[in-house]
Amino acid sequence: MAESAEVPDGGTPADHISGDAQFVVVANRLPVDKEILPDGTVHWKRSPGGLVTALEPILREKTGAWVGWSGIADSDDNPDDIPGIEIFAVPLSTREIAEYYEGFSNATLWPLYHDVIVKPEYHREWWNTYVEVNRRFAEKAAQAAAEGAVVWVQDYQLQLVPKMLRMLRPDLKIGFFLHIPFPPVELFMQMPWRTEIVEGLLGADLIGFHLPGGAQNFLFLARRLAGQATSKGTIGVRSRFGVVQVGFRTVRVGAFPISIDSGDLDTKSKSKEIRTRAAEIRAELGNPKTIMLGVDRLDYTKGIDVRLKALSELLAENRLEASETVMIQLATPSRERVDSYVRMRAGIEQLVGNINGSYGAVGHPVVEYLHRPIPRDELIAFFVAADVMLVTPLRDGMNLVAKEYVACRSDLGGALVLSEFTGAAAELRTAYQANPYDLEGVKDAIEVAVEQTPQEGRRRMRALRRQVLAHDVAKWAESFLGTLDSTTQTAPDANRGVHLVGRGESGQDT
Ligand code: ADP
Ligand code: F6P
Repeated sequence: MAESAEVPDGGTPADHISGDAQFVVVANRLPVDKEILPDGTVHWKRSPGGLVTALEPILREKTGAWVGWSGIADSDDNPDDIPGIEIFAVPLSTREIAEYYEGFSNATLWPLYHDVIVKPEYHREWWNTYVEVNRRFAEKAAQAAAEGAVVWVQDYQLQLVPKMLRMLRPDLKIGFFLHIPFPPVELFMQMPWRTEIVEGLLGADLIGFHLPGGAQNFLFLARRLAGQATSKGTIGVRSRFGVVQVGFRTVRVGAFPISIDSGDLDTKSKSKEIRTRAAEIRAELGNPKTIMLGVDRLDYTKGIDVRLKALSELLAENRLEASETVMIQLATPSRERVDSYVRMRAGIEQLVGNINGSYGAVGHPVVEYLHRPIPRDELIAFFVAADVMLVTPLRDGMNLVAKEYVACRSDLGGALVLSEFTGAAAELRTAYQANPYDLEGVKDAIEVAVEQTPQEGRRRMRALRRQVLAHDVAKWAESFLGTLDSTTQTAPDANRGVHLVGRGESGQDT
């Protein structure tokens, strides 16, 4: 029988008040990933993805606890001290990794929320395990949090945690932020457990999305699904702009576009070491006229194939000269046991091979492809060295890489080619934007970016930097946590009039 997303078992709320953290982040991953080296020693490395990039500096600043999984099976080891962060590891078994993480999170929710680029799979066993694991995260968060603490639950892997945690610990203030797009209603309605997910999220006091479009999709669904009569009765749900009324509780819903620690990147990118390394990279590549760069987790949403096909056709049409051009693709391995990722990797590597086979010379491939994570300082040097940054996702909640590139270009050099279907496109208006489904459009954007005049490049980059430096990750967190802090749970009318659609209103999340 399929599990319901009902409340965790395990006693009265008071039994769970045991922690002393006033601020708790709950995320699928810890900020560091455990790795067991061939000689058996344990090594902790930075976890992949934008969520950790964004939240790690916030938590260091605030001091608090982080509840998450270490990235390998059956381990509840805590990493060595991370200053300012108390770690609560949630162990996952091999079966749970297969069904909760690779299955429901990354073969059901991920493709469904990213425009069904790949067909989502719906399996009851995966759902049951998703419920079980969400319950374990909720229990761990309940143990970590002090009375009245703020708990900030992150992302699509943990959408049931807000409701489960509220049942365990009604004293907490609970926020939820979704780091990926929230899909249009027509797609979300495919989900067999759609009502449970919406109700799970409505356990929070504040639900944040990157863009107003995502918030609107959710508000519509909340009205349509959560107010329905169920076998357990009807929870009265009413929603209006920015607010959902769940019985006597008020849940606020809004857009909070995430960002990066742009000041830190700006400073680092100006250092002598980074500048020297950037010059070395160019020299190692044979001083080509144009260095193009892609930096991504190896994910089918990122449109790595789109940029490779565009490059290949531009070379074939003599619109780019192979001897003057190098494209560097840095790809962090990701979700390597999920079928769609295995297939996609093979496709990308074949495209790289085809381009190099057709256009490369001995010792001078056109595409330099690295399938591994790159150390942070080296990555900054790549950003500084790149003349054209290629960010071409078919769909992306925000895309922090685009903002990182801009933050690293205090010299006002470089050009950003950016997919319209990233959250970042709503803010980075002077990038060379293109529809990734329109290959001719992508090719044109790349060609114009390669050929821009220095004046035009400076004009565009100056505007991009104004946006990225003014709206950094600290502002994002302040804005979300400030709104959460001002949320009161008293009378149903207490928050009347809250209007919560953030900056970037013109952005579309659908
Ligand atoms: P996502 O969260 O989907 O992975 P984002 O672009 O929002 O995508 O965030 C990705 C983060 O991971 C960025 O901070 C980026 O610098 C980092 N990253 C991506 N690829 C690599 C790589 N090959 N090596 C090191 N860091 C990477
Ligand atoms: O931002 C999306 C996201 O899925 C995060 O939730 C996650 O931490 C990151 O990308 C990396 O993915 P994964 O944890 O599956 O390696």
